[in-house]
Amino acid sequence: MQFFKFPAVLSVLILAGCLSGLAQTKESLPRLVKSNGVTQLHVSGKPFLILGGELGNSTTSDLDYMRPVWTKLKSMHLNTVLAPVYWELLEPQEGKFDFTLVDSMMAGARKQGLKLILLWFGSWKNSMSCYAPEWIKLNQEKFERATDSKGKGLEILSAFNKTNLQADIGAFTALMKHIARVDSRENTVIMIQVENEIGMLTEAREYTPAANLAFRSRVPEELMDYLKKNKNELVPEFLALWQKNGFITSGTWEEVFGHGLATDEIFQAWQYAVYTNAVAAAGKKEYSIPMYVNAALNYKNANPGQYPSAGPLPHLMDLWQAGAPQIDILSPDFYNPYFRYYSNLYIRRNNPFFIPEIRSEPDNAAKVFRAIGHYKGLGFSPFSIESVDIPLEEPIAKSYALLEQLSPIILVNQVKGKIEGVLLDSIFRKQEIVMGKYIITVSHEFTLGWSPGSKNPGWPEAGGMIMQTGDNEFIIAGTGIVVTFSSAQADESVGILQANEGTFINGKWKPGRRMNGDQDHQGRHIRIPVQEYSIQTVRVYNYH
Ligand code: DGJ
Repeated sequence: MQFFKFPAVLSVLILAGCLSGLAQTKESLPRLVKSNGVTQLHVSGKPFLILGGELGNSTTSDLDYMRPVWTKLKSMHLNTVLAPVYWELLEPQEGKFDFTLVDSMMAGARKQGLKLILLWFGSWKNSMSCYAPEWIKLNQEKFERATDSKGKGLEILSAFNKTNLQADIGAFTALMKHIARVDSRENTVIMIQVENEIGMLTEAREYTPAANLAFRSRVPEELMDYLKKNKNELVPEFLALWQKNGFITSGTWEEVFGHGLATDEIFQAWQYAVYTNAVAAAGKKEYSIPMYVNAALNYKNANPGQYPSAGPLPHLMDLWQAGAPQIDILSPDFYNPYFRYYSNLYIRRNNPFFIPEIRSEPDNAAKVFRAIGHYKGLGFSPFSIESVDIPLEEPIAKSYALLEQLSPIILVNQVKGKIEGVLLDSIFRKQEIVMGKYIITVSHEFTLGWSPGSKNPGWPEAGGMIMQTGDNEFIIAGTGIVVTFSSAQADESVGILQANEGTFINGKWKPGRRMNGDQDHQGRHIRIPVQEYSIQTVRVYNYH
């Protein structure tokens, strides 16, 4: 790779950026817009639903390896690719930047009409600092590492060291400046993830001299003011901890929060948040688009230090929001089975909901409906998305094919509050939804004793979404669901007037099969069997 030489692809990108960049306004850049309590991502002035997938960590480090991946992803109905930018390859020598990989990603994505979310693998990647360039790793005197309580240096850059921060800022600023230059018109890059799964291991906090000094110092006024001002809204687990120590409003960390691992973690979280905020702020100065952080979720019954601690975890949301106002979203990465539990935690504190990573599993094809329909998510993104043999047979591709057609309607209904998403399994077998004057019960298809799979010991997850498009009209989409309608009024029954399977082509409904007879159980329900994926428009009526 070469430094400061403009490869052809870069020249074209820059030219495109220069020709048009002038007309760009703040409103036309990717941004988050909140209406009716729902935050959506707007791209080119319009709401955008992220049907995403994250590439494996090393995939974008090799242009040849990456070349065939773009079409594969496009064929899976993705509209957005989450792709890393590696500090070590972006700035292989201090102050010398190489944008070859970034530019080639931009060109690859544009060719397929895909958007990019760039992941800044900067100071931290899954707790560690493996993506710091060699010139940082080899100069420990200048770029200080975190140390454990025994004084042992870790492969983790210290968050308390200003030189580390300045180095990260330097690289991230160069990256954002470059994106501004080549992409402010096309807006291929729609969001940025700052760092990756920040989290302290193997203890809850750092023990460098600077960290120890800060730990013995008073809790910064800025944080205390935030906590006082937001006392009634703080997440309950954090509030309880502060309360246990008597809601003290000034003093050292241990005076305010008590002695113990929880306080160590709080202290470290604040520092991580402040550091990350400074990186994000510097980047936004160059090019202001939404930025988020992702969290490696903690496991139950583990102490701080045993899990990657002090990251943007549910119990630390307040600290992250206070310390990192430039970070727009705190996001969960799902590698555990507690989807509902953690999703419910991440919608607190007005945090927009976005899943940048979820382990690639067939059940994602069901989960995505709940993420977008119930949590009004900005989007969804299974990890290592390119690692599939037959893209079109991937369950997530089948759900994305539906969501791609429905996106404009979903986005309108998220704001109107006329959408619900369900996720069902052998334990959560059904969910009741009230929409207008109807009570809608969505059940797992295997609850029908006569459905072919109902005797299976394992039930795949089923999922779907319902949108109300008129007083008596609904769109139902998903997989493995059975939907019945009833009325809130005891003397009234609800019948299915018409149900059609079909497709939306450029937003226009093209009906296919009329779903009557066996398909709607002679007018009793709407059904989309397990392993089938479809959209049905439904009209219902009342009778007595
Ligand atoms: C979560 C990380 O954020 C990803 O970069 C990757 O390391 C996955 N874990 C691997 O499972």
